[in-house]
Amino acid sequence: MQTPIRKLISLNTFDKFNCKVMSVLMIGLLLLYMSSASAVESLRVLNWWSSTSEHAAVDVIAARLLRENIDWDEVLIPNGSGVAAMIVLKSRVIAGEAPEVAQLNGPIIGDWASMGLLQNLDAVAEDGQWDKLLFPAIYSWIRPHGHVVVAPLGIHRVNTLFYNTKIFDRFKLELPQNWDEFVHIATLLQQAGIPALAQSSEPWQVSTLFESLVLSESGAPFYMDIFVNKDPKAYADARFAEALQRLRTLKKWMVKPIREQNWTEATRQFANGEVAMLVMGDWAKGELNAWGLVTDTDFGCTTVPGTGNYHLFDIDTLAMFVSKNSHLSAQQKLAGIAVSTKVQSDYNEIKGSIPVLRTPDFSIMDSCSRASWTTFSRGASVQVPSFSHRMATDETSRDTIIKELHQFFMNDVMSVEEEQHRFVLIANILRKSK
Ligand code: GAL
Repeated sequence: MQTPIRKLISLNTFDKFNCKVMSVLMIGLLLLYMSSASAVESLRVLNWWSSTSEHAAVDVIAARLLRENIDWDEVLIPNGSGVAAMIVLKSRVIAGEAPEVAQLNGPIIGDWASMGLLQNLDAVAEDGQWDKLLFPAIYSWIRPHGHVVVAPLGIHRVNTLFYNTKIFDRFKLELPQNWDEFVHIATLLQQAGIPALAQSSEPWQVSTLFESLVLSESGAPFYMDIFVNKDPKAYADARFAEALQRLRTLKKWMVKPIREQNWTEATRQFANGEVAMLVMGDWAKGELNAWGLVTDTDFGCTTVPGTGNYHLFDIDTLAMFVSKNSHLSAQQKLAGIAVSTKVQSDYNEIKGSIPVLRTPDFSIMDSCSRASWTTFSRGASVQVPSFSHRMATDETSRDTIIKELHQFFMNDVMSVEEEQHRFVLIANILRKSK
């Protein structure tokens, strides 16, 4: 809430005026208060950020927004990776009840824009010189049809492997550079009664691990054939079978039973030292920090074996929906705030992501963020769009592939060959339905 203007009236002030003057003043102040109170505008912001660090990161933007007399009116649809949020968004838009702002990631931004549902933010971008400020890749993501339609907030790295430094020190372990080394570490830890990996069986979390495995087995061009082009030939390739096999083999090293738990619960198991490692986007770093764990002291981050040269990215953005009552001016202010240097630094430090800026404030970045920023800044050849986090393909393809993958993960009886065959069929259907 805005600071009420009536706070300006103190008892001393009252003593100085007679009642008549005072009542005139009171009426004046009341009118002023009413007009300034109504000047507080609200923007409903649909998002799925429900964890401790996600809340704290949002608070940075909301506090800055309030200084412009605009309330961040949270429409929270909790559910990791936005599964439920995207469904709610669709139904709200159909019902003519679109929120003024929504967290959107990936190609779906272009879909909403082509329906004429997103505000044009060109003026804000021009004003803020976003073309010079932002990473070129980001500047092109936010302009799906040549016009800026979203404000970018931060870049997450999905191929992050977190490790517990105390466990690694105790057993004198080196960071695994390849899967043989990973298996060696996992075996050693198993003998000591420590499971190597925290993992949830929630579909998007299985898929988050799997996309790193595809990248690890094959590199970026093959990854793109699988998740962006959905090329049936790539699905029939031996490298895809290897990634499926790797997923199955890794189950051996996961905490049993493998429960369908929220990503914060898997992160909690890691934080508690119940497991030695966790594969998760670096939003988990934000959460670990929010719980009081210190980067490089309590945990460290490296990359999933075999993916070190790549940045499997996930860009969080805010899209401004066209609404019945024009909120354009407030939406533009929010867009400008999102990209401002201070908000970029403070928000991303808490969120675990890196700023979208070419020259961010490095002084407050920890080693994980620096590594992420350094890799991402190498450009297009190392930047790989995260499939699970909506950066690689349309929603239907994403949902279909994730569902199939989840069934395979849960069903140890299904052979890799059979599963591969099913994926080839699915790829053929997805291609035809394009
Ligand atoms: C991602 C999103 C992140 C984080 C994560 C966990 O898709 O980009 O900001 O919220 O989901 O829900």
